[in-house]
Amino acid sequence: MIEPVYSPCPKRYDEMVYRRSGRSGVRIPVLALGLWHNFGSHKPFQDVKAMAHYAFDKGICHFDLANNYGPEYGTAEENFGRLMDCSFRPYRDEMLISTKAGWDMWPGPYGNWGSRKYLMASLDQSLKRMKLDYVDVFYSHRWDPETPLEETMQALVDIVKQGKALYVGLSRYPTEEARKAYKYLAERDVPCLLYQDRYNIIDRAPQCSGLIDLGEQSGTGFISFSPLQQGLLTGRYLNGVPADSRMAKGVFLKEEMLTPTLMKALRGLNDLAAQRGQSLAQMALAWLINDPRVTSVIIGASSVAQIEDNLQSIRNTDFSAQELKLIEALSTPIQIKQL
Ligand SMILES: NC(=O)c1ccc[n+]([C@@H]2O[C@H](COP(=O)([O-])OP(=O)(O)OC[C@H]3O[C@@H](n4cnc5c(N)ncnc54)[C@H](OP(=O)(O)O)[C@@H]3O)[C@@H](O)[C@H]2O)c1
Repeated sequence: MIEPVYSPCPKRYDEMVYRRSGRSGVRIPVLALGLWHNFGSHKPFQDVKAMAHYAFDKGICHFDLANNYGPEYGTAEENFGRLMDCSFRPYRDEMLISTKAGWDMWPGPYGNWGSRKYLMASLDQSLKRMKLDYVDVFYSHRWDPETPLEETMQALVDIVKQGKALYVGLSRYPTEEARKAYKYLAERDVPCLLYQDRYNIIDRAPQCSGLIDLGEQSGTGFISFSPLQQGLLTGRYLNGVPADSRMAKGVFLKEEMLTPTLMKALRGLNDLAAQRGQSLAQMALAWLINDPRVTSVIIGASSVAQIEDNLQSIRNTDFSAQELKLIEALSTPIQIKQL
């Protein structure tokens, strides 16, 4: 069967909101699509394609990848390369595509952490898998305590100078290392575009550590990952553990997290969301978007319906002082460190 050529929705930019990343010239959709789970070789390509097309049709033009997203490692990037070939290539200039290296990717001393050797080789591999000449953002995926910060940062600078990435980003750096990294990069005219960290209603670590404020002072945008705490902040687990859920796989989310304290808080948050006319997922995303320091929020999804649900969040991102207080009161007992 010959498939029709993909033709994106002409109204794709009508409803999405775009925010400037730090002091850069780049605007990013407040919702981005992350390909960590559900876009690798275990998923039928038709499903991958349906989710990616739907997102792009709705103005989600930022796709967030990493070398080891799958499962299997590399296969989310390979599927993205297939998308470039079958539908996205004519729209490359409308897209902001990011990838990363820093976690384990291949065996031996050069397939992990933050050496120049690893970052350079990994990005070359990523570009081949994604069938791209360059990525828009290349991240150091985590701070490496054993590699001099200057080596990792200089690799990022050189990657930009080589034209393999337009901008660079950092993910999961401690505050002081992020401060030094921003300075190093800025002094070499490669300012850090984005800082990426987990941030959501029940994990406020980057707020407490000062990383969000530091980004704002340094002109670096902040992009939140796992905004739904991998699905906890949705209706997914309010009535048990669905067989097709991330928790049922038992790797990144475990059933023992569903303590009575957590369930009570989630039900309270769910009730508040209903009063606001939102799903719990929508309210959790709206809570992040409500903060002007948050440039964007990277959602994960296992279906088009979830992306559709999450997109509704941008319709109501205002919270009364009373609602914010109630969210604080409900979520404080379950701040993620205590889970
Ligand atoms: N820099 C880093 O170190 C790092 C780390 C983690 C993630 N990230 C990035 O952030 C992205 C998002 O992370 P994440 O997948 O953990 O994000 P998330 O949005 O917190 O969780 C996504 C999961 O929540 C569930 N879900 C989403 N929308 C839903 C809805 N409307 N109703 C019910 N359930 C819903 C789905 O779970 P089911 O699969 O159970 O349906 C989905 O797979 C990743 O893809 C990646 O790009 C970066």
